[in-house]
Amino acid sequence: MEGARRARYPWSVPDIAAADRAAPGSGARMTPLGSIHDIPLGEGRTYAIDGDMVAVFRLRDGSVRALSAVCPHQGGPLADGQIDLQQVVCPLHLYAWDLTTGCSRSGLPPVATYPVRVDNDQILLEL
Ligand code: FES
Repeated sequence: MEGARRARYPWSVPDIAAADRAAPGSGARMTPLGSIHDIPLGEGRTYAIDGDMVAVFRLRDGSVRALSAVCPHQGGPLADGQIDLQQVVCPLHLYAWDLTTGCSRSGLPPVATYPVRVDNDQILLEL
């Protein structure tokens, strides 16, 4: 599924330019989003990356996940949803999505997922 574009996301979020080059040796184009400490444990934040709206979540076990930031139901802000180690619950109508696969737990379309990792406290996202 395609990620969400900025035009459908009315809230103000950091605007980031996607990386132009692949990270050395990885073959992947990793975009730095900033410090992992910008996201409190157990919460998410939304980033606009060349117009793609991406929600990055910092799970309580220290791992990170990244999904499309716009709920496919009616456009709710998924980064503001409640999370545990497996799912995010949209704050608008409480439908849930798997944080690893992006699959709906409520019978709705999936959301896009993105490879993401933390290196030296910096969030790196692959688009
Ligand atoms: S907008 Fe997300 S569940 Fe309705």
